[in-house]
Amino acid sequence: MLQLGVNIDHVATIRQARGGKEPDPIKAALIAEMAGCDSIVCHLREDRRHIQERDVRLLKELVETKLNLEMAATDAMVKFALNLRPNQVTLVPERREELTTEGGLDVNAQKEKITSIVSLLQEERICVSLFIEPDISQIKAAVKTNAQMIEIHTGPFVNSAVPEEELERIADAVSFARKQGLKIAAGHGLTYRNTAQIVAIPGIEELNIGHSIISHAVFVGLDEAVREMLEIVRG
Ligand code: PXP
Repeated sequence: MLQLGVNIDHVATIRQARGGKEPDPIKAALIAEMAGCDSIVCHLREDRRHIQERDVRLLKELVETKLNLEMAATDAMVKFALNLRPNQVTLVPERREELTTEGGLDVNAQKEKITSIVSLLQEERICVSLFIEPDISQIKAAVKTNAQMIEIHTGPFVNSAVPEEELERIADAVSFARKQGLKIAAGHGLTYRNTAQIVAIPGIEELNIGHSIISHAVFVGLDEAVREMLEIVRG
């Protein structure tokens, strides 16, 4: 069954707007789990703009499903992850000036560095996923790093004027990656309107969704927002 990871970064974004304690992303994680999601995703960014180290430590203690930590491929973050031991690490590119993650990792351009990070994390039984574009050469590079998993960037599909073409690119990439033995997730920019089209692609095992669920939660509550997305994800 296709799994749903709920990204709670945006709860922390609202909290950071006032620098206080509310709303607490930990509470959001627990509500999302009670509503039936399969994992909790958070991104500890270098600039600490939303999620803080304290949040990730508490999530590690309290999350009962699976904690998927998104992070940049840096020495400091690898040290943090080895210490914390989340269930999964998703390596993402990171630029300080971006509003959100833009584009997938260029695994081809940093194969040695990523291979060594994958090995360090996987030795500690942390599953490593690489966030990449639906691009065959990036998938081939991902296989060479020995990562167990990839997450296909769905942003180009979400923003395309011709989404059918992007869907085809994703479907081809998923089919190729499956043949290489990779586990496959997808995410970025998915909403209550466009997620069903990604669900229809066979071979994807996990969707990671944040902004749309947290936005909807403002109006219907987080429990209901997660349940509505689960209905789409699980068909
Ligand atoms: N997957 C990855 C790798 C991401 O970086 C993000 C954004 O943090 C998401 C999924 C979720 O994207 P969105 O918030 O647009 O649903």
